[in-house]
Amino acid sequence: MKVIVAVTGASGALYAQRLLQVLSQHEQVREIAFIMSEQGRMLFAHELGVNLSLKNPDLSLLGVSMDKIVPFHPKDLAAPPSSGSARYDGMVIIPCSTNTLAKVAYGFAEDLISRAAHVILKERRRLIIVTRETPLSLVTLRNMVAVTEAGAIIVDANPGFYHNPKTIQDLVDFIVQRVCDHLGLNVEIVPRWELPEKWWVHEA
Ligand SMILES: Cc1cc2nc3c(=O)[nH]c(=O)nc-3n(C[C@H](O)[C@H](O)[C@H](O)COP(=O)(O)O)c2cc1C
Repeated sequence: MKVIVAVTGASGALYAQRLLQVLSQHEQVREIAFIMSEQGRMLFAHELGVNLSLKNPDLSLLGVSMDKIVPFHPKDLAAPPSSGSARYDGMVIIPCSTNTLAKVAYGFAEDLISRAAHVILKERRRLIIVTRETPLSLVTLRNMVAVTEAGAIIVDANPGFYHNPKTIQDLVDFIVQRVCDHLGLNVEIVPRWELPEKWWVHEA
């Protein structure tokens, strides 16, 4: 599988870090195109204290093996993710700002992230958009509907608590596992929901 991972300027750099770690170790993933917006770069610096170059980001600073990573500058519109012929299997925008969501919803392709998302939709591949914003304006809700109608999947950064998380990493892993589910990858990093026997409903 060839996937594109894009990082934009919404809070939640930890989600991107963990997804990249998981994908880079997954046997079914052979290539990860990595694109970060200027604001995404800032979020890595602000939330994780890691300064990455836009052109040649050293993801080993995030504990990610560079073996499968192919980085692209967000302004490089001539890069392979701009073309359907590059045949990526899927793309994850994690985290996805409401700004980038709006661009995808309206078909703007003025940078490599929005262009790649547009290509993934037109090629009928999987586009997973991990939004993070609260509360949601009507504009954002409408943009979420528009991308969903176009075939994307919104995995809102909105973790469940039924796996009894003890750490922030447990919450991050919940979202990352759901993203991998929708990419079609088998990843087991948090327990899945199973109804405890004591909660079973017994007919009276
Ligand atoms: C510290 C910080 C946190 C932000 N968090 C969010 C957020 O959680 N969600 C969001 O939609 N925008 C957030 N923004 C605003 C976006 O970064 C801004 O809309 C920017 O234009 C996004 O650009 P991009 O889509 O090219 O990355 C944040 C900005 C800053 C500086």
